[in-house]
Parts: sequence; C-alpha cells; structure tokens
Amino acid sequence: MSGQSSAGFETMLGKLVVDHGLITDEELQQCSNEVLATRDEGDVGTLEDALIEHDFVTRRQLDRLRREFEANKSQKQIPGFKVLKKLGAGAMADVVLAEQKSLGRMVAIKILPKKYSEDREYVRRFYEEGKAAAQLNHANIVQAYDVGQAGDNHYFVMEYVEGSTVFDRIKEAKRIPEDEALNIMIQSAKALQHAHEKGLIHRDIKPKNLMLTTNGTIKVADLGLARKVDDVELAQAEKGKAYGTPFYISPEQIRGALDIGPQADIYGLGATCYHMITGRVPFNGKNPSEVMRRHLSATLTNPDDLNPALSPGFCQVVEKMLEKDRRDRYESTADLLEDLQLVQRGEAPHFARPEVDLSSLAVRIDTQAGEAAIPAAVTRRDSQGFANNPLAMASFVANIVLVIIVIILVALMA
Ligand SMILES: Nc1ncnc2c1ncn2[C@@H]1O[C@H](COP(=O)(O)OP(=O)(O)OP(=O)(O)O)[C@@H](O)[C@H]1O
Ligand SMILES: [Mg+2]
Repeated sequence: MSGQSSAGFETMLGKLVVDHGLITDEELQQCSNEVLATRDEGDVGTLEDALIEHDFVTRRQLDRLRREFEANKSQKQIPGFKVLKKLGAGAMADVVLAEQKSLGRMVAIKILPKKYSEDREYVRRFYEEGKAAAQLNHANIVQAYDVGQAGDNHYFVMEYVEGSTVFDRIKEAKRIPEDEALNIMIQSAKALQHAHEKGLIHRDIKPKNLMLTTNGTIKVADLGLARKVDDVELAQAEKGKAYGTPFYISPEQIRGALDIGPQADIYGLGATCYHMITGRVPFNGKNPSEVMRRHLSATLTNPDDLNPALSPGFCQVVEKMLEKDRRDRYESTADLLEDLQLVQRGEAPHFARPEVDLSSLAVRIDTQAGEAAIPAAVTRRDSQGFANNPLAMASFVANIVLVIIVIILVALMA
C-alpha cells in the first residue's frame, strides 16, 4: 500500500464507516477525540486502531472498505485528465468534472461502471455511437469529444455545461411560462433536427437531459451515448425515482419496436414539454408498468385543461407530438420546428390542426322538443382554430345552414 493512498483512506475513513452504517456520528466523534488525545501525548494513534479497539469495526470490514475505496479511486483516474470533482450521478454512471491537461480545458466525463465492459456488443455500440456523436456539431448539443477505456471502465468525454437542467427549472417554477417553454422547445427541436439529419436518434429525451446554461441556452445531453439495456428495462430500472424515464418514453419503445426513429424523440420532447407547461407528466401511475400501460392506451388530458392560460396552437402542437401512433405525430423535427416557430409568432400551427370531426357536427334533432341543436362538438379550442382553417370554417358554416333548414322544415311540419 502506498503512503499516499493509505493517507487518502485514513482521511476518508470516518465518513466511510458512518456512510456504511457501521458506527454513529457520536461514536466517530468519540474515536476521533481519543486519537487526538494520543497525539497530544506524543503517540501516533490512528482512527483505524481506535475503531478496532472499541469493536466498532472488524479488521475484515476495514480491509473491505479499503479495497472499495481504492477501486473507486482508480476508476476516477483517466490518463490525460485531472479529475476535479463529481458533478452528478444518473441511473447508469457517474459524471465528473475534469481538466483535459493537453488543452487546459474543462470537460465532463461520464464514467460507466465496470459491468459495462463485460458486454462486447455493448462496447461495440458504445464506440460506434460515440464516433457518430463526435460528428455532430451544434450550439444546442452537448459536444461529444471522446470515448475511451481506463482500466475496466469505459468513459465518454464531453463538453462541460455550467448551469442546471430543465428538470431543475420545472422543480423551481412548477409550471414554466409558455414563452419560456417555447424557447426551450425550439432550441431542443433544432438540436434534434441536426442529430436526426445525421442519422442519430437520442431515445432518452427527458427534462434531465436538457441542460440549461447560465445564459439560457439549451444543450441536449447524452446524444450518442449507447445504452446497455433496452428501453423498457432502462425505464424499469428507474423504479421509485420521482421523475424517471417511464414518464417520457414513447409507445413504440415500450412495445420494443426495432426501428426506433425520430418520432420517438418527438414523443419524448412532447412529454417533456407537457411537464413543463402543465406541471404534470402526461401519464402517471403507481409503478413504471402502470405508467407505460397508460402511454399505450390512456387518453391524454388536454394541456389547457390543466393550464387554461396556454395558447390553443401550442396545445395542438404538444398533442400532436404525443400521439400514440407514431404515424400521427410529426413526420420530422423540421415540421415540428416550423409549427413551433409559427406558434411563437402568434400564428396557428400548420401541421397540427384542430381535428374537425364532421360526423360529430351532424345535426341532432330532439324530436320531443321539436328543436334542432348543434352538439357540443365544437370545443373552445376548435372554434379558435377556425380563424386560420378555411376548410373547418366552411364546414362549420355549412352545418349551421343545414341546422337552419331543418328547423324551418320541422316548423313547417308542426
Ligand atoms: N456535460 C455535462 N456538464 C455538466 N454536468 C453534467 C454533464 N452531463 C451530466 N452532468 C451532470 O451529471 C448528472 C448525471 O448525469 P447522467 O446523464 O448520468 O444522469 P441523468 O441524465 O441525470 O439521469 P439518468 O441517469 O436517470 O438518465 C446530471 O444530472 C448533471 O447534473
Ligand atoms: Mg443524462
């Protein structure tokens, strides 16, 4: 054991034994005081000795802790980089801040756990997708720099983003105002359009993967990061997490479709947007399976039922993004972007239009009252959409004329 590594272990030992539940804070305090007292007396007592003397831990437990500590430390040693601190941890990896020594720049490194190295097919995809991600270059995408292996750990080096995530912003605001949400959506759609054009699908768009820089720029994270398990397994691994993946996963990913395309990202972004503007995820449930069942078959609550301040056009866009059948969603992020930009200018979306169900507009004749009535099929949102939809307007007028004719006929017959 090198002097340096044992000093590191000794420094961390107090925290480690408390974190592992082996002793209480008070017991640690007692041992630390004793160690200090021995030093006052000119002795060199150590915390290890004090813990063992008091039977708080066994020699075996200490050895195990030391091995764990050294393994963690070597995991953080990546040639060419100086690891500075941990930035966060997700379901699959740790992310650290590091200095790339050759260029003197700060980078974020995602370090995958050792178990990922054992799956050769995964490692192949990890390098392949990492290479594809490095081809992307966009102001709204966290730039992928490199992939590599240090010891048993594979890692993914990327641009360091100083700021927070859309997840943090939702927590803070509960409901994000429409103009801010639109801005986030437009930036994210631009990022996805760029990735999709290069043939890369994200598959895990969610508030935590939309990073927000301190000057308000969105950076889509984890693009090109291959995943070890399939989408449903990954979603289930999030069990118990308040805002886990199952809230944003597309129906086709749940079904295990092999040909996952841009529409899966459009759904994920739609679900993220729904959460931003209503303060709620589109489908909730007691467990991930229930949430996923609802993605497949439950009816979506209209966003403006939860937040009446939303503009009809924006709601129509989000609803189209969240269509269960991917053929009913936007065909491409380019189309989505066009609609988002129209809504931002206060115009009606082009691709997402209110559905005018002509059969529900059919005249209902209440024979008992001898009156004809228009059923409540024209919702508030539909009627607002008419101003920009000549076809819907024409069919509405035609139906009104029809109603008047029927009333006259009924009156004549009476
Ligand atoms: N490029 C980056 N720059 C700065 N911080 C980052 C960067 N990438 C990730 N982080 C931080 O690391 C944390 C963990 O990221 P990671 O992608 O592993 O998990 P996640 O996206 O939060 O969630 P999950 O693992 O559930 O998908 C993030 O929440 C973020 O705070
Ligand atoms: Mg992430």
